[in-house]
Amino acid sequence: MHICQDGKYAYEVSDTLKGLKNFVRNLNKHTFNIDMLCITGDLSDDGSISSYEIVRENLSKLRIPYYLVPGNHDDKENMAAVFQDHKYLRNYVDNRILYSFLYKSIKIILLDSVSVGSPDGSLTDGVLSLLERELDPDYNTIIFLHQPPFLSGIGFMDNQSYLNKNKFLNILEKTDNVMLVGCGHIYRQIFTKKNNVNFMIAPSTAMQLDLNLNDTAPGDFVLETPGYLMHRIDISNKISPEIISYGVQITDKKEMEVTYPFND
Ligand SMILES: [Fe+2]
Repeated sequence: MHICQDGKYAYEVSDTLKGLKNFVRNLNKHTFNIDMLCITGDLSDDGSISSYEIVRENLSKLRIPYYLVPGNHDDKENMAAVFQDHKYLRNYVDNRILYSFLYKSIKIILLDSVSVGSPDGSLTDGVLSLLERELDPDYNTIIFLHQPPFLSGIGFMDNQSYLNKNKFLNILEKTDNVMLVGCGHIYRQIFTKKNNVNFMIAPSTAMQLDLNLNDTAPGDFVLETPGYLMHRIDISNKISPEIISYGVQITDKKEMEVTYPFND
């Protein structure tokens, strides 16, 4: 989201507030039922109280509950202060938030991979021990966190380090009921699979990272169409519920939202 103090443009180029407003409008227009929204971090660009108040005010227009994990741009204290009713934002283990809840037989785990003051991914031994205990074989599970624990191919982001990445992956490898690990941080829709676990990175509701797969590519973003991911889970098969993920593009151009009959 990268919302700035007073709604200013991020990096002086990206109208992230407009992106947030369009996102909320897009989610609200769906006529089918959506259970919840999980935002995988970097709600704010600058960590300011003002930025979180803007995010909160806009998210209050949603008709569905939402959950948050912090990103490296977030100030965890300010975020918890503004989203006071999200008490899990103070569920700290080793200065990391870990919170889990059951929703219709699916376990959702919110995992904080942010070390204050650094863009690098970071999962401590303490939070990983707790995660291991949370991964209950009786429940199919989805984990949301900010930094993806795999190389994206976007070189300048892959150069960031990741404390305990392999330990995290080893924990996931030992389970057979983690349906999805949903991430942010690398603003582009990316999918990969490791040891039967699906990993997805959500696009941004504003700017996207440039798809330049040269190792030495500069850190650039582009103003491509914003988006988000939607996941549909069929829980009628409790042993192996099916998950289908949709990439949704957000547009504020009315002509792109008109529907036409399509029969073949
Ligand atoms: Fe980030």
